[in-house]
Amino acid sequence: MVDSQTDVLKGLENVPIKYTSLSSIDGQQGKLYYVGYAIEDLVEHSSYEEVCFLLLNRRLPTRDELQRYEGSFRRERELPNDVFGFLKKFPRDAPLISVLRAGVDLLALYDEEVEKTDPARNHSIAIRIISRMATLLAASYRLKQGLDPVPPAPDLQHAANFLYMATGRRPTPLESRIMDVAFILHAEHELPASTTAALVVASTLSDLYSAVSAGIGALKGPLHGGANERALEMLFAIGDPDKAEQYINAELAAKRRIMGFGHRVYKSFDPRALIFKNYLKKLADVKSDWTLLRTAEKVEELMVAKMKDKSIFPNIDLYSGPVFHLLGLNREIFTPIFAVARAVGWIAHVLEYWEDNRLIRPRAVYNGPPPRQYVPLDQR
Ligand code: ACO
Repeated sequence: MVDSQTDVLKGLENVPIKYTSLSSIDGQQGKLYYVGYAIEDLVEHSSYEEVCFLLLNRRLPTRDELQRYEGSFRRERELPNDVFGFLKKFPRDAPLISVLRAGVDLLALYDEEVEKTDPARNHSIAIRIISRMATLLAASYRLKQGLDPVPPAPDLQHAANFLYMATGRRPTPLESRIMDVAFILHAEHELPASTTAALVVASTLSDLYSAVSAGIGALKGPLHGGANERALEMLFAIGDPDKAEQYINAELAAKRRIMGFGHRVYKSFDPRALIFKNYLKKLADVKSDWTLLRTAEKVEELMVAKMKDKSIFPNIDLYSGPVFHLLGLNREIFTPIFAVARAVGWIAHVLEYWEDNRLIRPRAVYNGPPPRQYVPLDQR
């Protein structure tokens, strides 16, 4: 038994559980690096497929390697026919993120390699999961709206193709670029709750699909990935920048959290929020629709002034929601998009962890009654 005086490390805050070369976060300076490359550089010069290669191989690809990699993504886009059949039967009112989780479990049943865990196969399973999750999500999103799924477009890259399959409309070059940026920004983030959940599952030497499914379950919650949908709901509830102060004051007075703010690691601006804000400006200009941008900026200004003593700053979810909204997507798909883009981060961490696996099995400090006599039911 663990000594009852032992301190419990609630929320595993600041507890290191693995070495990683995948990403590093400087929470004080608001910096994020994937395998040593600044997120700003990757957004500017890279693509989601290249970032996937980087995370799964821990180096940048050559031109040939990247071309082959993009080809593998394209080849894996189609879903097994039977999976479509099941998707059509899912309840229309089920949350899309739960549909995605169930869909990933379904995909596992149709992957003959799922139980084979040698490193070479893991890599091809990884691409298959990442690529098919996008098709699965787009198809489920459309089915939920009573629309037919849209087949993948072979000429489009992963993120643009996802947007096309979800909306049924070919994205403009700016929209494609922004979706690619959104996927890059969501691809990896060290060990949030979802990646930790994936690792706990994988540390038992379970399979990659089970790890991804666990990651989706953890991401669903409003304290993690679910915040992007709620942040947009909040911006709509506020309605316009002039009403922001009254709203924020009332929420804070009621001790409610403002969605899209605060982070366990960042104690300054989340760099992803700043990048998203820039792209939101571009998109708002093109669509001549600035209300969400201006409302979010006002909320940011108020919150930073009120909460900087507690180091509460905007996180990725404040500006990602408005971007997705202006791309023509409904709120219910925001958290699932996060999952589809983050699958590579979950898998990359699992593969890295398996190189030196140790079963994750923490302890609890018992604070219940001492050993005692069982009382039979008829004597209670
Ligand atoms: N709004 C108002 N107050 C907040 C917020 C917020 N969004 N976030 C933290 N605080 C306050 C807390 O009330 C607490 O105040 P207290 O010390 O007076 O009690 C203090 O700041 C510290 O908060 P903790 O809960 O200890 O911070 P923690 O590191 O556990 O929380 C979290 C991080 C869960 C993200 C939190 O900031 C939060 O709930 N944010 C809103 C939800 C959100 O946006 N989540 C997305 C995170 S990013 C991501 O997952 C992609």
